[in-house]
Amino acid sequence: MPRHDHHGDFRAMQAPPVSATLDPVSSPHFHFSLVNNLPPRLFFRNPSTRVEFSPRPPATDSMLQLRSVTKRYGALTALDDVSLDIARGEFFGLLGPNGAGKSTLMSLVAGLRSPDAGALTLDGTVLTTHDPAARVALGLVPQSIALYDDLSAEQNLRIFGELYGLRGATLRTRIGEALAAVQLADRRRDPVRTFSGGMARRLNLAASLLHRPKLLLCDEPTVGVDPQSRNAIFEYLAQLNRGGLTIIYSTHYMEEATRLCSRIGIIDHGKILALGTLDELLTRLPFEEEITFAATPATTAFSEQLTALGNIADVNGTHRFRPRAGFRLSEFYALAERHGLPPRVFTQQRPTLEAVFLHLTGRNLRE
Ligand SMILES: Nc1ncnc2c1ncn2[C@@H]1O[C@H](COP(=O)(O)OP(=O)(O)O)[C@@H](O)[C@H]1O
Ligand SMILES: [Mg+2]
Repeated sequence: MPRHDHHGDFRAMQAPPVSATLDPVSSPHFHFSLVNNLPPRLFFRNPSTRVEFSPRPPATDSMLQLRSVTKRYGALTALDDVSLDIARGEFFGLLGPNGAGKSTLMSLVAGLRSPDAGALTLDGTVLTTHDPAARVALGLVPQSIALYDDLSAEQNLRIFGELYGLRGATLRTRIGEALAAVQLADRRRDPVRTFSGGMARRLNLAASLLHRPKLLLCDEPTVGVDPQSRNAIFEYLAQLNRGGLTIIYSTHYMEEATRLCSRIGIIDHGKILALGTLDELLTRLPFEEEITFAATPATTAFSEQLTALGNIADVNGTHRFRPRAGFRLSEFYALAERHGLPPRVFTQQRPTLEAVFLHLTGRNLRE
């Protein structure tokens, strides 16, 4: 996907910009943003940008801790000495390509497998595979849908609810609420085999929540899901999280992690490579933003002079400029003006998680 497309995502996903460090209206960035109909936020520079990333201190109000967790399948190390703290109320994104170890991590937390080394603590209780009691606090939406195809939505929920010890009026009320929340109330009597992938996924989500867990594990819940169901899932998860539910959400879509998660861990080859808020992760890049413009006779002389301000590359008739440390955007536009190039010639983009991943691993998330 071309980087340009991510603009729309950022616009929709990010909170409105507030910054005391820069007077937005007097800044050329602001006018530039008006021209391009982009939020000024894209143009603010983080003062701590060049500071080397440091992991946040251990969570004080911990929901889940992993300490040096290793999991092997024969000779393959699927999780390699992973330590991780998830605080109460977080919406944590586990972002990584296929085979990174996301499902393995989920399965260890859910108690479906035990680690070869290390320890997991859920809400203050050390998890063991022998003692499932602690896991009552936990809901899992597995990567592959786990429902009974021939049973109706309602019958499926009854089975899941009963597994968690719910009975009678409480169970009936919760089933009704859950079906309404995932917008399946009108399909309650239909067998699951008549459902679309998105509907089945929504039902699986409802099933994982009947017992009101404190921690919800969602393992790639939007794979094979239509856009409408996808949005319904996002909105429901965001609402649950606002209500206090801690969520761990795995995905290989950086747009999802960007949109949903308060903190993101990038995982590959069984290791957490980077951990932080989106902003913190983006500061790991040796560049902050990229300015692109068409390579035309009018921009030739300008682009040659830009080498003094950063790196410039030519990609299919487009100049891609990555500023150097200490670069001032005002200098860029002053230089452009001297070359008779108006701001609308330029497209400025904030780097994405994809760029962070590429920087850390040398390959793309989608490969
Ligand atoms: N049951 C298993 N037996 C053997 N290898 C497995 C098994 N499950 C996963 N793996 C391997 O472990 C690695 C991590 O897999 P997984 O946790 O499913 O990654 P992800 O969910 O990020 O795609 C992959 O190399 C995968 O092939
Ligand atoms: Mg998986």
